[in-house]
Amino acid sequence: MATTDSLTFADRDGSAAGAARGHTGTGRAHGKAILFGEHAVVYGAPALAIPVPRLPVTATATRLPSAGEGADQISFAIAGPGTGSATPVEADDLRHLVAEFKVRAGVTERVCVDVLIDCAIPRGCGLGSSAACARAAVLALGDLFGRRLDARTVFDLVQVSETAAHGRASGIDAIATGATAPLYFRAGLARELPVAMAGEGFPDAARAGAAHPWEFDGLFVIADSGASGSTKEAVEMLRGAFERDPRTKETFVREVAGLTHAALRDLGEGRVDDLGARLTENHRLLRDIGISTERIDTLVETAIAAGGRGAKISGGGLGGCMVALADDPRRAETIAGRLHEAGAVRTWVVPVGRFASYAH
Ligand code: PMV
Repeated sequence: MATTDSLTFADRDGSAAGAARGHTGTGRAHGKAILFGEHAVVYGAPALAIPVPRLPVTATATRLPSAGEGADQISFAIAGPGTGSATPVEADDLRHLVAEFKVRAGVTERVCVDVLIDCAIPRGCGLGSSAACARAAVLALGDLFGRRLDARTVFDLVQVSETAAHGRASGIDAIATGATAPLYFRAGLARELPVAMAGEGFPDAARAGAAHPWEFDGLFVIADSGASGSTKEAVEMLRGAFERDPRTKETFVREVAGLTHAALRDLGEGRVDDLGARLTENHRLLRDIGISTERIDTLVETAIAAGGRGAKISGGGLGGCMVALADDPRRAETIAGRLHEAGAVRTWVVPVGRFASYAH
């Protein structure tokens, strides 16, 4: 079962629920990018992820007038990036979430609510859109019904939705979409790392109480290849391949775990070049098991040719996004520009450490 350790989320998520029962409730989350360990994390390997505060998600739950008895009446609408208006969605994952929310939060009354989710995260990109929408919706419902949801309950509820959406989910998205610092995740245990980041409500590493904030200074450049990928399909494809050939699985999981552990040490000791080289090595492992695409491989090569310290596919794969590491803001801009020239449809820069407040 998944938990977070004491360093992480309990207070933030718990305090999201107001005590008063109002007419509307709000909840917030954001995107995430996996730096190391996607897919291997499903089989118990560790993973490293960063929140992407530039991709916010806000859910607003509004109580509808309801008279008498009857079935719950719940509607969801999502406004995505670049869409002016919200589109109603019939999402089983979100419906499961509301049913489980009622059980976990002890809501016995008839629920009649509209949930409007304003999601800046493009879908099918490996940036955590489904988990972030679910997290924001859970927090909005908790706020609306005046329930204090602890971090564990929020996690479990998001996982209900994620499992309905993707099948087997490790839980990394459920946590990273609410994290405010880079995150080490393994077997349901998460720890935020003392590396400064900036975003609404983000403490920097020093203010977060870290006695010795890590001095890792870099900028992660994320690029959307423009071709969406299905995490569910990718996870199922690998499950089939690993069942047929368990030795491939063992080797993959062991090698990725080794890279992730080494990357954690690089982060702690500020070794940007080494971390970059490990990103590229993790990309090779993912490419070799069939998770990358030609378009992503081209973007990875482009980022490295433009001076990136390393680059890899990020997230579920079979399309979606890649991430590159730059060692200074000018280089990050150059890499982003070259990625656009090479076909990326969108890029985002996530600065950390002394670059954390760098505006781009
Ligand atoms: O949601 P995505 O596309 O970032 O994928 C999540 C990472 C996987 O390891 C592929 C799946 C999981 O549940 O951990």
